[in-house]
Amino acid sequence: MVQAQQSPNAAARTHAVTEAVNKVRQIEGEHGVTREALERIRTVLIELARHKDLFPESDYPSPSEQERSLMYLLSEDPDHRFALYLSTGVPGRASPPHNHTTWAAIAGIDGEEENRVYERVDDGSVPGKGEIREVRRVVLRAGDGVAFLPNDIHSIHVVSPTPTRHLHMYGMSVEHLPNRIEFDMEAGTCKVFPASRGIRK
Ligand SMILES: [Fe+2]
Repeated sequence: MVQAQQSPNAAARTHAVTEAVNKVRQIEGEHGVTREALERIRTVLIELARHKDLFPESDYPSPSEQERSLMYLLSEDPDHRFALYLSTGVPGRASPPHNHTTWAAIAGIDGEEENRVYERVDDGSVPGKGEIREVRRVVLRAGDGVAFLPNDIHSIHVVSPTPTRHLHMYGMSVEHLPNRIEFDMEAGTCKVFPASRGIRK
């Protein structure tokens, strides 16, 4: 396991991260998982992402061309809930369209992460079939954010010439999401998107 380096501002980062996660936990507790609650969570994450100095390249290095993308764990509850990551990807890196089976929120620190949002067209009654169509695109730069309900479908695409550095937060650790679905839009198919591995802690 690779440890993130600890810089002089590690204490300030720990404090800011803890405060933000506490707010998110409280929002979900009071409002549940709704669009309104996610809007509040998105705002908390954007505020945390404004502190660019707390998440420097020296502590969270960008991925190599071979690695393509990295996820650094910033916070996670003992029961794996309320998991916060710094996500960084090289130019051109993309994910397939997928859902999360838990809520998700993203806020930009640096670089441009395009989020393409889809809606499912078929009713899911045929195993392996999964038709989606794109409904909007939003490019997340510093100060921007977006949030998704558990069944929302998105894909991410690094469209800046420099690596992205974005905060990603989920209602449950991405290492404990075994039932996410990923879609092949051209083929009209879907399959399980396995739980994430290789998270740096
Ligand atoms: Fe995602």
